[in-house]
Amino acid sequence: MDRRFKDWKHPEFDEKGTTKWNWMCQYHENLKLGKETDIGAFTYINAKYGVEIEENVQIGSHCSIYSWSTIDDKRGKVTIKKNARVGAHTVIMPGVTIGKNAVIGACSLVSENIPDNVECDSGRGGASKSDKAENSLIQKHYVEQAEKFGTSGISTISDINIRKLEINALLRYLEDSRKVLEVGCGNGYSAVRIIEQRNIDLIGIDASEEMIKMAKARTIVGAKGKVQFALGNALRMNFQDEFFDAIFTERCLINITNWEDQKVALEAIARVLKVGGLFIMLECFTDGWRNMNEARAELGLKEIPQPWHDLFFDKEEVARFMNSKFELFKEDNFLSTYFFGSRVLYPALLPKGQEPRYDSQINSFFAHLPSFGNHSSIKILLFRKVKAD
Ligand SMILES: C[S@@+](CC[C@H](N)C(=O)[O-])C[C@H]1O[C@@H](n2cnc3c(N)ncnc32)[C@H](O)[C@@H]1O
Repeated sequence: MDRRFKDWKHPEFDEKGTTKWNWMCQYHENLKLGKETDIGAFTYINAKYGVEIEENVQIGSHCSIYSWSTIDDKRGKVTIKKNARVGAHTVIMPGVTIGKNAVIGACSLVSENIPDNVECDSGRGGASKSDKAENSLIQKHYVEQAEKFGTSGISTISDINIRKLEINALLRYLEDSRKVLEVGCGNGYSAVRIIEQRNIDLIGIDASEEMIKMAKARTIVGAKGKVQFALGNALRMNFQDEFFDAIFTERCLINITNWEDQKVALEAIARVLKVGGLFIMLECFTDGWRNMNEARAELGLKEIPQPWHDLFFDKEEVARFMNSKFELFKEDNFLSTYFFGSRVLYPALLPKGQEPRYDSQINSFFAHLPSFGNHSSIKILLFRKVKAD
């Protein structure tokens, strides 16, 4: 890489904290600056709680970097890792870490960590009021899940057979050498199993801080691929347009409990996926769920309701909505046999008064059979992006 400075020197600050290049820093004794950093004119840095800008970082003019936001009293060290570039007029909030080589578009508001090597635009889209209200309850639910199950594979899904079959199904569609995004990665269990078997560069985002904390706590040894975890919301993704070769979800978008906001998330996914890229939508759908409940009714069993924190998708509605930019080329009902066995036949055959167990031999048997029919709420719709915005 060409060196931008022949003779870089650490800046000096006058009594107002201003440098001779007209950028300023309050509490500059807490500013740690790497070599060859370039900070544009009229940028303001509040370093009260620590700001570290590593070597070779370039920051445009008129940016604001706050380790202390006095308006809402948010505090936290800001770290900008080496070779990152931050566009003009960007605001960076307390506690944020921007990963190495990341590029932040001009006029961005950065309030969440940015992983290494990604290119981000200013946030777009946004949730409706109803989503924000419902989401706080759902977020609370995932704090409890994270506290109860930690890094376990049964966090967010009590039936480990389902988890295993989901991972196998995702692996069928994920090819090596791809830049991949998982939206709603939870505690990162599936993400890590996937990079153990595929040489991909995976980023997992989740709206729950506790889940991301669990994901980051994982030790990964001998994996073929790489994974980074970051806090991020499906409704406000700030990755650059057409950044990923493939995107997948695993029962995440059902947590956005109104169709209007689910569409916002689907649009955000469409925006950050390359033309020709694959969207593996592993979610719950009403058609398979209805078929399963009809079979249960035939055997005198009660309906299994949609969980309170989910809104299942209508397959036809999703297909119509995605139609302008995507080709829906496959529906994979990989859990149909398993659901028919474990949620219809097994409970119907049980002696009266006995409850079905996820770890029963019956379930294990059905988990090994090939799948047929359409009797599971969970399925994969496979979309290929055929048109840009
Ligand atoms: C059912 S869990 C599945 C998690 C993970 N895919 C797994 O299989 O364990 C749904 C996850 O989606 C996350 N989530 C819900 N709404 C989200 C949103 N708007 N953006 C990002 N993540 C979200 C939740 O925090 C939760 O971790």
